[in-house]
Amino acid sequence: MATERTFSIIKPDATARNLTGAVNSMIEQSGLRIVAQRRVRITREQAETFYSVHRERPFFGELVQFMTSGPVVVQVLQGDGAITKYREIMGATDPAKAANGTIRKTFARSMGENSVHGSDSAENAAAEIAQFFSGNDIVG
Ligand code: CMP
Repeated sequence: MATERTFSIIKPDATARNLTGAVNSMIEQSGLRIVAQRRVRITREQAETFYSVHRERPFFGELVQFMTSGPVVVQVLQGDGAITKYREIMGATDPAKAANGTIRKTFARSMGENSVHGSDSAENAAAEIAQFFSGNDIVG
């Protein structure tokens, strides 16, 4: 399988509970490598741009509010089939439907406060990485 990069966010519900290290441990246990990482407070404009595909959805306002409510950790993960692999270890968006042992089953509180985000395609991974990191920030 080809080496890929994907974009990850450890969300405010997880940073509030001091779970950055626990999530990172699950990422590293899976074989993925954290090749860039920064803890930031994202602005409303950044959140609206990041989630612009969801702009018309009823939960958009709540999503932007939540993502700007506290610090997040933005990351680039690298490895074989990284996009699919990270989605597997995150588990389903709704933690009630996530498989045992996944990050969301273990830590998420709800569909909104679901602890982590991961890119869903190669195209979105490239765009999401570019929103937060420049080439020099990523050290593989
Ligand atoms: P994420 O992978 O970050 O991508 C979009 C996010 O929207 C998703 O995770 C959820 O946190 C959030 N989301 C999706 N559906 C709902 C919903 N029905 N109510 C609230 N938030 C949602």
